[in-house]
Amino acid sequence: MAAAGHWAEQAAETTKQKHKGAYILCVEGSVPTVNEAYCTIGGRSAVDILRSDAEGAAAIIAYGNCSSWGCVQSAQPNPTGARGIAELLPGKTVIHVPGCPPIAEVITGVIVHLLTFGRAPELDAQNRPVAFYGKRIHDTCVRRAYFDAGQFADAFGDEGYRQGWCLYKLGCKGPTTYNACALMRWNEGVSYPVQSGHPCLGCSEKHFWDHGGLYTHLAEIPAGAVGRNPDQVGAVVVGGAAAAAVAHAVVTAGRQVTARRAKDRIEKQVSVSEEER
Ligand code: SF4
Ligand code: F3S
Repeated sequence: MAAAGHWAEQAAETTKQKHKGAYILCVEGSVPTVNEAYCTIGGRSAVDILRSDAEGAAAIIAYGNCSSWGCVQSAQPNPTGARGIAELLPGKTVIHVPGCPPIAEVITGVIVHLLTFGRAPELDAQNRPVAFYGKRIHDTCVRRAYFDAGQFADAFGDEGYRQGWCLYKLGCKGPTTYNACALMRWNEGVSYPVQSGHPCLGCSEKHFWDHGGLYTHLAEIPAGAVGRNPDQVGAVVVGGAAAAAVAHAVVTAGRQVTARRAKDRIEKQVSVSEEER
């Protein structure tokens, strides 16, 4: 829609009337509910506009974390009463495409699916398309091997950080964040935050602003990511290495004893046969 102002209002109204029951409503931004003065357009409150636009829509998409869950506007103490749109549209299915911002190819994929099949893609319990939100950042992260090996950067710029090690201790929320960043990447597949050296903030998760400090690491890793605390992973790896070293030493010592005994036996046999001659 290239128009602006009254022309834009008119174009939207015409679309709603002409294509009632057939148009896709795509909403960006949260909706303030405490006082309509926080968002009023053309004399109508954001809540009224949303409800009226949703009325004849064939499908409704919340595009971004704001319209999905409220995002930063709804962070405590949420002075404007900002809400995601699903809360204001009871009884309607809202497809959530969260992210701050969301990935361009993901919203494109959702719209193409709607147009191609005439129905919503498979959604998870939070109404996110499973095809794009079925895995955690952690599941396909480029730094995952370092996490599993217990190798973590402890500070921005330290040796581990320069080596490209796991950013979990710098606050990475990848283990609890469902999004396709590590698969699709950004800027036409160039990179994503973790690959570029910044921990995942969990920007596609519900109320991520209220989940503790952005640079504070999770107290616990959910089962399935590895199933144990990363602080213990390093210990386990070191412990495992120590155990392996001990085992190796025991085996080596055992082999040395066996070799010495064999040598003694051979020397004995040699001396016996020399005496017999
Ligand atoms: Fe990647 Fe973060 Fe998981 Fe480390 S904790 S492997 S940086 S997603
Ligand atoms: Fe957001 Fe984390 Fe992706 S911060 S952009 S969900 S890597």
